[in-house]
Amino acid sequence: MIKIGRNEPCWCGSNKKYKQCHEAFDEKLRRMERQGYIIPSHDQIKTPDQVEKIKESAKINIAVLDYVAENIHAGMTTEEIDKLVYEKTTEMGGIPAPLNYEGFPKSVCTSLNNEVCHGIPSDQIILTDGDIINVDCSTILDGYYSDSSRMFCIGQVSEEAKRLVEVTKQAVEEGVRNVIPWNTLGDMGAAVHKIATDHGYTVVREIGGHGVGIDFHEDPFVSYCTKPGTGMVMAPGLMFTIEPMINQFGDEIYQDAENGWTIYTEDDGLSAQWEVQVLVTETGCEIISY
Ligand code: MF3
Ligand code: CO
Repeated sequence: MIKIGRNEPCWCGSNKKYKQCHEAFDEKLRRMERQGYIIPSHDQIKTPDQVEKIKESAKINIAVLDYVAENIHAGMTTEEIDKLVYEKTTEMGGIPAPLNYEGFPKSVCTSLNNEVCHGIPSDQIILTDGDIINVDCSTILDGYYSDSSRMFCIGQVSEEAKRLVEVTKQAVEEGVRNVIPWNTLGDMGAAVHKIATDHGYTVVREIGGHGVGIDFHEDPFVSYCTKPGTGMVMAPGLMFTIEPMINQFGDEIYQDAENGWTIYTEDDGLSAQWEVQVLVTETGCEIISY
């Protein structure tokens, strides 16, 4: 952390003097660092100006998910979901972040039943009655990123599938309630994990959430298999996703050898995921995209 004069402008771009802005914040972080906590760097703290721009991106991301919710139905292909996402995003002036991201070929991830995440839309995959599907949308607007996902139940799904989808949503919302400034990511992750395991489910360990906003995937990695008191301090201004992948049976997973993307449950059990993008505030948490 660089030393700034107390009467110099704050590093956050507020135009306030440092002593009237983030000086106490920096002192608190330094104190916690001395106590052994992992603390965010200044460039991981979103400025109010950045937050406003990210929220504009999120308006599109939310509208796209709403549009998918209105139009998803049995009999359609996941390729058609991709088309809905591409058209709505670009019509609103955004760019779908997945498209060409590290070679990803489509505008959205569509992960069905035993697919954990990173399912690739295809004209060969037809939604059928009883399916559960995660639609994971991410948007770039003027270089700012938003990222959230929802589950959809197609027609009449089994009680067990419905329960997995609902419990996963509850787990994410418990995570949101545990975004408490100056607690740690490990506190939040442990709260998410408890909801899953209390219902007899398991949580994927290898893949998780991430910082987001200026880039698609920023540090820190956000796990939901954590011990309270560990991991990065949730300082106000930190922005990240809460996106646990919760499995019906075991937590083991494998990657599609052919497409290099899609992740499946090892035991073919169902997997569900909801994703919310949050901002840590002085008093709690603000939902940016959901
Ligand atoms: N949207 C996913 C996430 O939540 C990332 C998908 S990367 C992609 O982090 F290339 F598959 F889109
Ligand atoms: Co994400």
